[in-house]
Parts: sequence; structure tokens; C-alpha cells
Amino acid sequence: MTDALLQNPSSRTFDIRKIVADLGYPSHWNWCWENYKPTVIELSRARGLRRHLEIGAGRDPLFQPGEAAQLGLDITLNDISAHELSLAPSGYGKVVCDIASPQAPDILGRDKYDLVYCRMVMEHVPNVAAMWRNINAILAPGGVALAFFPTLYAAPYVLNSLMPEKLSRFLLETIFPERKQDGGDPKFPAYYNYCFSSEARMMPMLRQAGFSEAVILPFWGYAYFSKFPGVKQVDAAFNRLAERRDWRSVSSFAYVIATK
Ligand SMILES: C[S@@+](CC[C@H](N)C(=O)[O-])C[C@H]1O[C@@H](n2cnc3c(N)ncnc32)[C@H](O)[C@@H]1O
Repeated sequence: MTDALLQNPSSRTFDIRKIVADLGYPSHWNWCWENYKPTVIELSRARGLRRHLEIGAGRDPLFQPGEAAQLGLDITLNDISAHELSLAPSGYGKVVCDIASPQAPDILGRDKYDLVYCRMVMEHVPNVAAMWRNINAILAPGGVALAFFPTLYAAPYVLNSLMPEKLSRFLLETIFPERKQDGGDPKFPAYYNYCFSSEARMMPMLRQAGFSEAVILPFWGYAYFSKFPGVKQVDAAFNRLAERRDWRSVSSFAYVIATK
């Protein structure tokens, strides 16, 4: 996969592809969780992107204020929920608003940020095209956006999208008690609008939102079936096959890295 990333060296995405390749990108799901923060740091360092906005940062922002100071970053946190944002540490700018609302660019500031990123937020936004248009509006020219999100049609997300919210919440909290409402990692309703790793599905929407270039990195696998012996092994074998064959329609997560 690393070799594939290095194709197309003529375009400006080459350095983004190279940054991720240098971080050792494999398409296994552990990597996307462990390397989200290193990817943000490396993008920021390589392109000198200092003014950051974390969308849907919630109670657990990516950087602690001390780290931000050490890295020389000016970080603003956003969330639709004033409650979630109030639980985040102080020491950043905080802006409560719906990232997909028509007012968001004026509330957050047009052309104001060099790097905008979010983790596990896109699936909770009903109108993702509007979200990407707004991200484009608030990025400075040459700015970069990174979204990390779960993708369809991985089995757990298909199940989650088909089940009534009450039932999926009950199942999640039963299997993973730490996900109980105010156990520190609450569940939010998910819509999975534009939650795909397929370039054919994502690129037209990103171009319409105003992005000149984008790189989509797919990942396969997850831990959701870890407590179900038998299912776990069969599902893991299927995910390994899908990863080898690059079956985007059943990937589990993706990074989209887009340049304004
Ligand atoms: C699953 S949590 C992820 C929190 C954090 N990004 C993380 O990775 O730990 C989703 C967060 O997105 C926020 N959110 C949902 N829809 C949003 C929207 N339209 N605009 C901004 N934030 C949103 C939720 O309030 C919540 O804090």
C-alpha cells in the first residue's frame, strides 16, 4: 500500500501522500487510530500549518493545551454541544456551532485556519456536503483538512444505521459498559452521510466543496466483534481479504486529506 501511495508524484498531493507513506501507512485499522495525531502533527510541521480548528472536539480534544504551546499551535475547538465543549480543558478558543449550518463560516471565521480536522464526527453530521463546503470556507488558501471517520458498508455500521437508536445504544452499552452515557465516551446518533472510502463517491463532492486535491486512505478491521468468539475470527478473515483486494465498499474507516 505504501508503494501505491507514492504513485502520482507530479501533483501537489504527492507531499501529502509522502507524509503518510513516511509515517508507515498500512491499511490496517490499528494504524488509523494510533497515527491520527502523528498525522496531524506531521501535516502541520511539513506545511507550516499553525492555526488549527478541531471540529467536534468534544470533551477530549486531540492536543492538551501544554502540547499545543510546545508545538507552537494556535488551536480552536468546535462542537455542536456546549456541554461537551465545557468538559474539555480550558486554554483554547472554543466555538459552539453546527459545522454544517449556513452560519458556521461566519461564526468560525472565513479563511481563518491552516489545518482543520475531526475524528469520529462526520458520521454524526446529516449533511456532510454542507460540512465540507463550510470547511473549505474557513480554511485559508492552501489550507488542509483531515477527516477520520467510520465507513460503510462495514458490518457494525450497517447494523447501527439499520437499528433504532435506543436499541443500538442498549447493545453498545451492554457489550462495552465504558460507552454508557456519561461513562466518559458517550454514543451520538449516526447518519453515515458520505461515509465512504471510495474515490468515485467522495471526489465529486469534495471538488464541489471547493477542494483542489484530496487523498483518501482506506482502512479495514475493528474490535466490535472482539467479544464474540467465532464471529470475530470469520469477520477478521473477511476483513483481511477485503484489505488485500482493496474492496472499498466494505472498508471500516477512512482518512480524507483535502487541500483548498
Ligand atoms: C463521537 S464524538 C467524537 C469526539 C472527539 N472528536 C473524539 O474523537 O474523541 C462526536 C462529537 O461530534 C460532535 N458533533 C456532532 N455533530 C456535530 C456537528 N454538526 N458540528 C460540530 N460537532 C458535532 C458531538 O457533539 C461530539 O462531541
